[in-house]
Amino acid sequence: MHSFHYQNASLHCEDVDLATLADAHGTPAYVYSANTIRDHYRRLDQALGDIDHGIEYAVKANSNLSVLKLLVEEGSGFDIVSGGELRRVIEAGGDAGKCTFAGVGKTREEIEYALREQIYCFNAESEEEVAFINTVAGEMGVKAPVAFRVNPNVDAKTHKYISTGKSENKFGVDFEVIEDAYARAAALPNITLRGLQMHIGSQLTSLQPFIEAVEKVAPLANKLKESYGIEFFSIGGGVGIVYDPALESGKPEWWSGQEEEHKPLTIEQYAAGVVPVLKKTGLKILVEPGRYIVGNAGVMLTRCLYEKKGSAKTFRIVDAGMNDLIRPALYEGHHDIVPLKEPGAETGVTAVDVVGPVCETGDFFCQNRELPNFAPGEAIALLSAGAYGFVMASNYNSRGLPVEILVDGSEAKVIRPRQTMDDILASEKAAL
Ligand code: LLP
Repeated sequence: MHSFHYQNASLHCEDVDLATLADAHGTPAYVYSANTIRDHYRRLDQALGDIDHGIEYAVKANSNLSVLKLLVEEGSGFDIVSGGELRRVIEAGGDAGKCTFAGVGKTREEIEYALREQIYCFNAESEEEVAFINTVAGEMGVKAPVAFRVNPNVDAKTHKYISTGKSENKFGVDFEVIEDAYARAAALPNITLRGLQMHIGSQLTSLQPFIEAVEKVAPLANKLKESYGIEFFSIGGGVGIVYDPALESGKPEWWSGQEEEHKPLTIEQYAAGVVPVLKKTGLKILVEPGRYIVGNAGVMLTRCLYEKKGSAKTFRIVDAGMNDLIRPALYEGHHDIVPLKEPGAETGVTAVDVVGPVCETGDFFCQNRELPNFAPGEAIALLSAGAYGFVMASNYNSRGLPVEILVDGSEAKVIRPRQTMDDILASEKAAL
């Protein structure tokens, strides 16, 4: 489900007219739908209803405190990748005891902070890291709960930059040596072995890699339960969303799988596929969804500044740039683009490049795409921008971060004001 639809010829988020928000708060602006986020969380929770499970929302996808608070209210746990994300969860009223801490490069400060806050588990990515966690825990006089992330060497069939479960990726411990790693970790005095984790990649749109991975790793989880009494098996995140409805029957250029496998995976199919395998383990199953929860729950609004007709192309220049939404530049990511004013039969269509003001050739949101005509002054929405959108924004070209707005029914609330130039300059001015 998502809650962006035309009503009275104007694009709405739930019951709020997006043109009104663009006028009141300016552009670029991120707008999120609270009810879409709740709906996705509940659908996943329900789909896993047959097994003992926990949802660890991947904070990196969208870490705004108000978004986290909404998920705290739903009962979510959190998958974090930094001390900063743990701090966000705590500030949002979340329970550190329901947090798992992933990432290949945890620092001493982060490990100490997580131990002080008594997180549920470190998902460790190397034996070296576990040895260091053991040392830090020993100094603090505590025992650290640890799971290893196993790299199952499974092809996730997604873009190479977001594929993580192959042995050439930096993540996790190789499947072939993981049992030895557990044996050595079990001998460390300040470590409690609590689970096993994996995550094979992001934006997976077929079930087969998930099945391959759980079938390969579930027997290992069983063995580790017998040997070390581990209590959970986390299968990571990665469930993809539909970015481009036109692609449902086609395939993106980087797609390496079977064409028919590209039909988007629903959360119910995902659960129905993995649950029977996981049930046999008798372990608590954790999932770490990010994009599935928030991806289609957000849009980025931007306004057209100019139309520039070149000899080869027509450019529509908008007031958002790659610094605001970097996915097209970084992963060839597709975001559907729709005008806020509903196109009519008379609107017409032109093949255009929608580009931003940043001084880079890669600063585009689409190239040669047939879009309904919209004119300078008009606002448009880039859809499916709720995950890895604002969180990856930067100040490149000294551009302030966009405003973030959360819509809940007919209410719209600014949950992070637009960053001003004074905000950006404050710490540098202090150093002059
Ligand atoms: N767990 C771990 C250990 C992860 O590394 C990730 C994402 C997730 C869970 C959540 O994955 P999701 O359910 O969102 O697919 N910036 C990229 C995506 C990077 C994903 C990184 N890891 C993008 O915009 O496509």
